[in-house]
Amino acid sequence: MNIKALKTFKQSGEKIACLTAYDASFASVFDMCGIDIVLIGDSLGNVIQGGENTLGVSMDDMIYHTQAVAKGAKNTLRIVDMPYQSYTNTKQTLTNAKRLIMAGAQMVKLEGGCEHEASFKILQDNDISVCGHLGLQPQSVIEMGGYKVQGREKQSADKITKDALALASWDVKAIVLECIPAELAKQVSQSLSIPTIGIGAGVNCDGQVLVSHDMLGIHVGHVPKFVKNFLTNNDDVKSAVSAFIKAVKDKSFPSRQHSY
Ligand code: KIV
Repeated sequence: MNIKALKTFKQSGEKIACLTAYDASFASVFDMCGIDIVLIGDSLGNVIQGGENTLGVSMDDMIYHTQAVAKGAKNTLRIVDMPYQSYTNTKQTLTNAKRLIMAGAQMVKLEGGCEHEASFKILQDNDISVCGHLGLQPQSVIEMGGYKVQGREKQSADKITKDALALASWDVKAIVLECIPAELAKQVSQSLSIPTIGIGAGVNCDGQVLVSHDMLGIHVGHVPKFVKNFLTNNDDVKSAVSAFIKAVKDKSFPSRQHSY
């Protein structure tokens, strides 16, 4: 899997399967099972560090986990989150993105749309591949008033659509769509030539991502509607990961029960 292949997946209609990874062991299992993308997500702030949100994750944290994952996931495309407040101006964005690339990222992910135009453009100008992230943006959980579905009202749906088109025009290679109505995700996906990767965004995205802990049934407290535990009917982690990949590819996951 590489960045060029992303568009080919979209053109052929093959769905892209993505899981988060934070360490070398899990990354090598995911890689062995044939996952298309590993996302070194700042969700590590929740599932590794035990935080209430992702706001406490630092660049050093992301670098540490990226280096570990890069040792395990050799055949898989590695996308790495730029953490909270690490892309507030162009100089900082470029410096931090380069640090993540040096650590083993092949693409960096930024949450948000047009408000980060300068950051997206400086990365484009410097040939650093970027993934966008629209809809529910965990780094904006305070502004968004909690982990809520986005894009239900026209104004919010229009903003997501406008942001997606703007990101594509700045050569963003893929866009994560988190917690938005399935119909909106379908429209956005159809309007773009780059792939969308959904989490709580319905089956018509071009790919799906889950936090690996959620996919293995390791969660404390509230379990979001879009989560499915693939270990339930499988004996071990490898079988669960293979079942996740198969379900994404044959479009049996997410079903309506996992969608908004
Ligand atoms: O940090 C993360 O794991 C993410 C996914 C929820 C898409 O951004």
